[in-house]
Amino acid sequence: MSIPETRKGGLAVMRVLNLYFTATGNTEKIAKQIEKTLHEQGHEVDSVKVGPDTSEPDILAYDLIFSGSGVYHWLPGKPMQTLWGKLVEKYFREGEIKPASPRRQGRKAVVYCSYGGVHTGINEAVPAVKHMAQLFDHLGYEVIGEWYFVGEYHGKLQPHSTNGRMGNIVGRPNEADLREVAEKVVGILRV
Ligand SMILES: Cc1cc2nc3c(=O)[nH]c(=O)nc-3n(C[C@H](O)[C@H](O)[C@H](O)COP(=O)(O)O)c2cc1C
Repeated sequence: MSIPETRKGGLAVMRVLNLYFTATGNTEKIAKQIEKTLHEQGHEVDSVKVGPDTSEPDILAYDLIFSGSGVYHWLPGKPMQTLWGKLVEKYFREGEIKPASPRRQGRKAVVYCSYGGVHTGINEAVPAVKHMAQLFDHLGYEVIGEWYFVGEYHGKLQPHSTNGRMGNIVGRPNEADLREVAEKVVGILRV
């Protein structure tokens, strides 16, 4: 298979995908910080905000993928789950998911969530991140980051921003969280 690269000034340029689902805007803040940091570091990036009718992105066209979602009942949001279902089916059908999931040279993924953790803290966010990560692992991408960011509850569940295991999470992700996002992205680019 040819390695998908674009060329800029004669140099090979990484193709980067920034794929995310957000229902109340928290994950979007993180996704936008990822995009901004990638730009600052001189990388182009395709950002895709997942909705109910998002068609399958060409995952295999990308060298580095960031994929994130808010956590809803321990899993990624429904539109993200639906998209994952379509992608898994497609890549099994096309023979791209192979027994033993052989690694694809140079392909890497970072999976992250924003979560409120009102009941059991980070443990209730872990299944969401592991769920998303398995698609990339099955496709032979090395998952080089699994990130968890705290995200306040909005709307009816707003009281959960102060009455749960995470303590007071009002305003999260905040500036400090977004600085952490930027630092982590810079760290990933060193890989
Ligand atoms: C209906 C609903 C269900 C939620 N379920 C969970 C959950 O199971 N675990 C968790 O840690 N956070 C849960 N949260 C909190 C969200 O994951 C958190 O606020 C997240 O940052 C939202 O991301 P978004 O604004 O990008 O959609 C829930 C929030 C709502 C509104």
